[in-house]
Amino acid sequence: MDNRPIGMFDSGVGGLTVYEEIKKKLPNEKIIYLGDTKEFPYGSKSKQSIIELTKNNIEFLLKYNVKLIIIACGTATSQALEEVRKIYRVPIIGIIEPTVKYIKQEENYNNIGIIATRGTIRSNTWEKSIKEKIENINVYNKECPLLAPMAEEGWTDNEIAKLTIKEYLNNFPKLDALILGCTHYPLFEKIIKEQMPETDIINTGKIIAKYLEENIEKSENNINIEEEIYLTDTECNFIQMANKILGHNIEIKEVEVK
Ligand code: DGL
Repeated sequence: MDNRPIGMFDSGVGGLTVYEEIKKKLPNEKIIYLGDTKEFPYGSKSKQSIIELTKNNIEFLLKYNVKLIIIACGTATSQALEEVRKIYRVPIIGIIEPTVKYIKQEENYNNIGIIATRGTIRSNTWEKSIKEKIENINVYNKECPLLAPMAEEGWTDNEIAKLTIKEYLNNFPKLDALILGCTHYPLFEKIIKEQMPETDIINTGKIIAKYLEENIEKSENNINIEEEIYLTDTECNFIQMANKILGHNIEIKEVEVK
């Protein structure tokens, strides 16, 4: 048993799709969530900037005596995880490794698509990690820079979202699975599935939750444990979106991370 909290961060509301899945599977875990809304979007920043921001976020979360940190962000996982693992002793989990393990188990996957932010696709980390572990697999990438800002805005199920997704998914061949390589994208899962009814849509939050269930020392905290959500800027739509994603009203605290 380990009652210390789990630390988690993203640039905004995307990481809450991971938070939500973990809460469903492991309701006794206390999670300290940090949304670096001041620096949103991460997807268009350089690798060096992402490393700096990731370090700041980790140092903020370490103040809460966390037992592990989840980078609930595809962009930071793809560009900073390797770097920060060399610096900090706390276990740090990103969204890529557990997902690649999952895909490896699914033996009938031959054609995999990945949609993610520009930075994530540019880093090529998903494709490299998949091909390192799985032979004879075809990987198709597509950057979707408009989706995370639309998700922050709450435009996840309107006509604009449908058209944008249609345009982004247009050139994929027939896929066995499509990885939502940015944690904002599960918010569009319904309309993505409508466009690709025969493809398995992979929500990394579900995979991380299962991974934690199988691999960590669990907490035995009270199930009604207080939520702790911190933002680096509150002039944004985070609260409305978070209330919608989590299904209840949340309270947030504004903080500086540096
Ligand atoms: N949710 C993030 C990701 O998984 C970041 C999106 C962004 O800030 O551009 O990549």
